[in-house]
Amino acid sequence: MVSLLISYIVILSPFYNSSQTRFDHMYNAFSRSVSRANRMSLESKSSFQSNIIAGDGEYLMKISLGTPAIEVLGVVDTGSDVVWTQCEPCENCYKQNLPLFDPQQSSTYRNLSCKSYTCKALETLSGCTDQDTCQYSIPYGSGSSNGDLGVETLTIGSTSGHLVTIPRIVFGCGHNNIGKFGEAGSRLIGLGRGSLSLISQLNQSIYGKFSYCLVPNTENSNATSKINFGSNAMVSSNGVVSTPLVAKEDPNPSFYYLTLEGISIGSKKFAYNASSKAGTTEEGNIFIDSGTTLTYIPPELYEDLVSALEKAIDAERVSFPGGILCYKSKDDIDVPIITAHFAGADLKLQSFNTFRSVDDDVVCFNMMPVGSNGVNFPIFGNMAQINFLVGYDLKAKKVSFMPTDCTKH
Ligand SMILES: *[C@@H]1O[C@H](CO)[C@@H](O)[C@H](O)[C@H]1NC(C)=O
Ligand SMILES: *[C@@H]1O[C@H](CO)[C@@H](O)[C@H](O)[C@H]1NC(C)=O
Ligand SMILES: *[C@@H]1O[C@H](CO)[C@@H](O)[C@H](O)[C@H]1NC(C)=O
Ligand SMILES: *[C@@H]1O[C@H](CO)[C@@H](O)[C@H](O)[C@H]1NC(C)=O
Ligand SMILES: *[C@@H]1O[C@H](CO)[C@@H](O)[C@H](O)[C@H]1NC(C)=O
Repeated sequence: MVSLLISYIVILSPFYNSSQTRFDHMYNAFSRSVSRANRMSLESKSSFQSNIIAGDGEYLMKISLGTPAIEVLGVVDTGSDVVWTQCEPCENCYKQNLPLFDPQQSSTYRNLSCKSYTCKALETLSGCTDQDTCQYSIPYGSGSSNGDLGVETLTIGSTSGHLVTIPRIVFGCGHNNIGKFGEAGSRLIGLGRGSLSLISQLNQSIYGKFSYCLVPNTENSNATSKINFGSNAMVSSNGVVSTPLVAKEDPNPSFYYLTLEGISIGSKKFAYNASSKAGTTEEGNIFIDSGTTLTYIPPELYEDLVSALEKAIDAERVSFPGGILCYKSKDDIDVPIITAHFAGADLKLQSFNTFRSVDDDVVCFNMMPVGSNGVNFPIFGNMAQINFLVGYDLKAKKVSFMPTDCTKH
């Protein structure tokens, strides 16, 4: 497949449009070559696949960048767009266990030109150096990543077991990264809706489909699971439920918005918005994010859930910073089933979705009111998604969930 990809680029080169920059040309050739490659992979019933490893409240997936290929472990993040990794030379880098990516050591690395369509289309995050290198700056709550936008060869696994090489993926080579990030990862794989995300860059070849399964995030567990892109990412089986994907500009067009109608504690249902009339839930009132640990819901709904949980849970409540609902318990406490009612899809959440142990003998609720931790819009976070096979179908505009033992998936 690798040699085929390269030969298609050669075959396509007569279509070179001289008014475009070199990298735009490569970028286009790449899209066409990948859609061509995908026809092949369909024949061989193969699609891109990688392993997911649970970190500290985050999930990391393995890809490789460059020639020779250097392993990158990036946070699986449906809540952002850019793929970026820490790069040499490093002005500021946080500690990471894997070696830093060094563009000087890769024969396939190219800086993205400021004249490129890709750079021009991203004015909000790009500047330009004297040498015409497109620059990005991504702010985070606790810091930022800044560096060059580069174009590189990406290597990823496939369902056939072979490594697949995808030329000309645009990524952020971070030379100045400030903030608190886990040491296990070398940073972020943006899977959002925006044009620079891995999903958008692979779009033609994966038919707008990807799926992941997140294992329980317990210490001392080395369980891995899979993320699939393309034909193998279909979630269809008994027990699968689906909810419409809503496209929205605010607060960010990159997010995958869903419609949450309410949440039940046991058999008692609470509406997302108690003051709205029944059946008038606003569409796209929450987004689903694999890169955020907790779930954030409107404060009124949060208050409703907390009082219902206090009645239902027979354990000693302990005070915890930030007003989080926590109980004293050495073992798992007995919690009622909490059901998230998305439009057309009820998700029964188990105790590992809704409570986590934060200390030797303290367990805390995994939901928080919007407004806490600087979060200003409802988010369906990654702990709530544990042990569901979650499938995104951007063409059919829906997200599907199937209860699954992700350690076996
Ligand atoms: C060449 O690229 C320019 C700029 O992207 C575009 O306006 C033009 O239509 C292209 N020409 C052809 C023949 O594709
Ligand atoms: C990429 O651009 C940066 C900043 O302009 C420059 O320091 C670096 O040498 C360039 N790298 C390559 C491979 O051209
Ligand atoms: C991705 O593919 C879908 C279906 O083929 C298409 O409707 C959509 O416009 C594409 N998106 C991008 C960003 O290319
Ligand atoms: C997980 O992996 C580490 C390092 O390879 C090993 O020391 C540990 O025993 C493993 N834990 C389990 C539960 O398999
Ligand atoms: C709740 O519904 C009311 C009435 O429909 C509306 O004015 C308000 O903005 C809604 N609040 C939220 C958080 O959706």
